[in-house]
Amino acid sequence: MAIKTGRADKAALIILDRARCNNCGLCAEVCKGAPLYMEEGKLIIDESRWFGCIGCGHCMCICPQECITINGRDMSPDDMIPVPQKALQASYEQLYSLLLARRSIRVFQDRRVEAEIISKITEAVSTAPMGVPPSDVEILVFDTPAKVREFADDIIAMMKKSRWLFAPLVTKIMGLFAGKEYRESADTFINPALGIFLKEWEKGNDYLFYDAPLAMYFHLSLYADPADSLVAAAYAMLAAESLGLGTCMIGSPAYFIKYSKQIKQKYGLPLKNQPGIIVIFGYPRLKYRQALKRRLGKITYW
Ligand SMILES: Cc1cc2nc3c(=O)[nH]c(=O)nc-3n(C[C@H](O)[C@H](O)[C@H](O)COP(=O)(O)O)c2cc1C
Repeated sequence: MAIKTGRADKAALIILDRARCNNCGLCAEVCKGAPLYMEEGKLIIDESRWFGCIGCGHCMCICPQECITINGRDMSPDDMIPVPQKALQASYEQLYSLLLARRSIRVFQDRRVEAEIISKITEAVSTAPMGVPPSDVEILVFDTPAKVREFADDIIAMMKKSRWLFAPLVTKIMGLFAGKEYRESADTFINPALGIFLKEWEKGNDYLFYDAPLAMYFHLSLYADPADSLVAAAYAMLAAESLGLGTCMIGSPAYFIKYSKQIKQKYGLPLKNQPGIIVIFGYPRLKYRQALKRRLGKITYW
């Protein structure tokens, strides 16, 4: 049975040119969906097997004979483009240098991010992997400081309205069900952070989006893996970094957007979509002189 997602409810169609196929088996080896398989040295297509074609595109990208194509689930043969030359692909040293040079940027130049740069970022995001194709990730773009501020204003209003949910007495009761980690995070971070955001906003200071000239809200349909929007956001950050921008992920607003029908309606967000994360972007005003070595919580080999 075909996997239902936000944008697909049927299997994609696999078309094979039998005259050109030499049954090399490469497509069957990469097909894990799994309508392609080999039987007695011959390629078999069975769309009723498992999920049918999920539209990952691997078979048409690997076929040396160029004799297999996929149509459907937002994929067509026109989507095949040459693999970039090895020399153009970032080496580990180049990629690691980009990762090391990145900092979460919260101080921006008074300069808008150009439309072509925004397109390059979204183009790079579209290459990201997703739980099940086609990607259900959606991006809401705020491309001027005024638009970002208006969005912040709406989120601040929602934060003001919901602040009581994080008051110590409420988190004490909620903690009985949600656990001590919830209570401790609410008491030591969420509640005081909300206090800071609201107080500073009244003084004209934006501690939510730091007066960024560009913000993107990554969200997605309820069918999708919640990780998809986070993967997409990470791709956006790294693409932006490579284009000379500074970025910062902004986690807290998504929870408030989730419960605000008003915000969803105003910005055309599907009411049922699951919340993701916001990334802010802009040209950095300050330059860091050192990079940082960091450690993860734990790495365990078993
Ligand atoms: C999921 C996530 C949510 C975040 N939310 C915020 C936020 O709301 N506000 C903020 O200033 N920074 C936020 N950050 C940025 C982190 O604070 C930042 O990554 C951390 O301080 C380490 O700094 P670095 O990114 O420069 O290494 C977030 C980062 C992640 C990954």
